[in-house]
Amino acid sequence: RVVSTDRHDRPRDHFTPRRGWLNDPNGLIHHAGEWHLFFQHWPDALVHGPMSWGHAVSTDLLDWTELPVALPATEAEHMWSGSVVHDGANTSGLGTDDEGPLVALYTSFDPVGLGQAQSLVWSTDDGSTWTPYADNPVLDIGATAFRDPKVLRHGDGWLMVLVLADERTVELYRSPDLLRWEHASSFGPAGSVEGVWECPDLLRVPVEGTHESAVVLLVSVLGGAPAGGSGMQYFVGELHDAEFRPTQDAQWLDHGADFYAAVSYFAAPGPGPVVQGWMSNWLYANDVPATDFRGSMTLARRLSLRQRDGRLVLVQRPVVRPGEVVHAVADEELAGTVMLPVAARSCRVVAEVDPGTADRVGLHVRVGAAERTTIVVDVRAGTVAIDRTRSGAVDFHADFPALHTAPLSGDGVVRLEVVVDESSVEVFVGDGEVVLTDQVFPGAGSDGLAVFAEGGTAVLRRLTIHA
Ligand code: FRU
Repeated sequence: RVVSTDRHDRPRDHFTPRRGWLNDPNGLIHHAGEWHLFFQHWPDALVHGPMSWGHAVSTDLLDWTELPVALPATEAEHMWSGSVVHDGANTSGLGTDDEGPLVALYTSFDPVGLGQAQSLVWSTDDGSTWTPYADNPVLDIGATAFRDPKVLRHGDGWLMVLVLADERTVELYRSPDLLRWEHASSFGPAGSVEGVWECPDLLRVPVEGTHESAVVLLVSVLGGAPAGGSGMQYFVGELHDAEFRPTQDAQWLDHGADFYAAVSYFAAPGPGPVVQGWMSNWLYANDVPATDFRGSMTLARRLSLRQRDGRLVLVQRPVVRPGEVVHAVADEELAGTVMLPVAARSCRVVAEVDPGTADRVGLHVRVGAAERTTIVVDVRAGTVAIDRTRSGAVDFHADFPALHTAPLSGDGVVRLEVVVDESSVEVFVGDGEVVLTDQVFPGAGSDGLAVFAEGGTAVLRRLTIHA
């Protein structure tokens, strides 16, 4: 086992590959006490190319141990995104009745003929080694944009969701044994259709404060997301047999620029599903500053649904290290900008701010001599934003320096949870109701933190900074 080396430019709590390129999370599963994270990987280069599945494991979703590449690319087959399930009842017959196998379904991309078909590999040693199924591919419709199978248990059998990317549809297939797949239904185009659709997932999500739940369909879209470029939309609805029927219009999952291809962990202990995404954007993913690795995952997030203004909205709570409290403030008036007596390149800030007479309240993080990343709540406009225009290295791509804005529901006390790491800021507002995720590339010395209130006096009801 090779443990990720501890370098100062590595995020602390976000998974990065030891070397090379990373994109989508794949094959997320909680199995035998461990969280497995497979991922789109080219260990030998810092750009997207012939994809393999990398592999890492964790017991807490924060400290990861990188294992050898699980599914290596070959000249004839690139291993594109897909999922892993535990076939506990051995429906596939690929394991034994005592010990069902792990089964991975992924997209075989043929770099010559450009076909995309779904193939199967299985493991009987908890994911250490994988055997290709003899009759691969298991699902081939002769298409060139048919990908990203996500498999879930459905009654005694299985459901697969995947996309016809160019058509902007999610296709549902069913199977009794993971080997023979039959088309069941189709959803879309709907919601955002500017970009091709990728990496769908279908989740059952509990509604807070009730015994109810609803089905949520996640869809990643390659263009037209609120912060520009790629992002994720979701549909709340119901599953009728093997057909998804939305009950609400599409909504955006994250209003920052860098949350993509998120899918859920199979068999995650509850309550609610746990998802994790790739922290980048196809607009500039190949261009972000990098030395020996490029790309990281977001924090894992636990999902629930909340009633808000007559509809259900997804709530995301990050899985975090509790972290020692290094600074705490309670019930203090705030006017203007106040530097805090803490230096941190990675930390978690929890704040409750009563805006009082102020027009704008917020935080500056990763503050250096001439740079900072700003999280600002505009009380009058009813918005929250991340401003990364002066966050450090920004000019590697014209679309990177920007202000990303999200609507904020409710007024009164603003509750913020901000997770800052070596090259990222994840902002959770209103107990996870509004989320923004952005990469930032500040200089090594930029470790200051400040709070501000503009246009009046606010009250910091509570501010804690966790190491
Ligand atoms: C999403 C995606 C998937 C594809 C994979 C290839 O980021 O484009 O649709 O399977 O990346 O690496």
